[in-house]
Amino acid sequence: MTIDFILNGEDVSLKADPLERLSDLLRERFGLSSLMSDCLAGFCGKCVVYLDGRLVNSCLVPAFKVRGSEVVSFEGFKSTDTFDAVSRAFNDAGAEFCGFCDAAVFMAAGSLLDSAERPGEDDIEETMSTVYCRCSTPSITLGAIRGAVEAKAGGKYDRAR
Ligand code: FES
Ligand code: FES
Repeated sequence: MTIDFILNGEDVSLKADPLERLSDLLRERFGLSSLMSDCLAGFCGKCVVYLDGRLVNSCLVPAFKVRGSEVVSFEGFKSTDTFDAVSRAFNDAGAEFCGFCDAAVFMAAGSLLDSAERPGEDDIEETMSTVYCRCSTPSITLGAIRGAVEAKAGGKYDRAR
């Protein structure tokens, strides 16, 4: 089947098995190495991307569901104002990452900053628990995101998408 979609702002088209995992498509056909295929079962969150603006585990998304959609991987996310805001928040809070899955952590945080509704404490904890990151300190990362959400609510940050 032909799959047409928008990937990181560009129109793309390719032939794929309708049930091929989006994570495999992105890694193997487009060489996007930021997302990882680890558990392949929706547990680790290391394969997250934005699908039409929603944070999803791409290992659970079959190729046919992507037709006509917009996909943003970390490679595209890195050039947004949201990424800058997340980076600033983590830097200011002294958050440190080993680099194994920080792309996924940043995207999870970005989805909170870009949500139309102001995320509450439960939203923040639930979204950040999407990514099973072993090296970051939850009290620091969650505190950083709370601060960024506050800053956005105070008009110090504009939505990037
Ligand atoms: S590889 Fe997709 S959630 Fe773990
Ligand atoms: S960035 Fe180190 S385990 Fe996630």
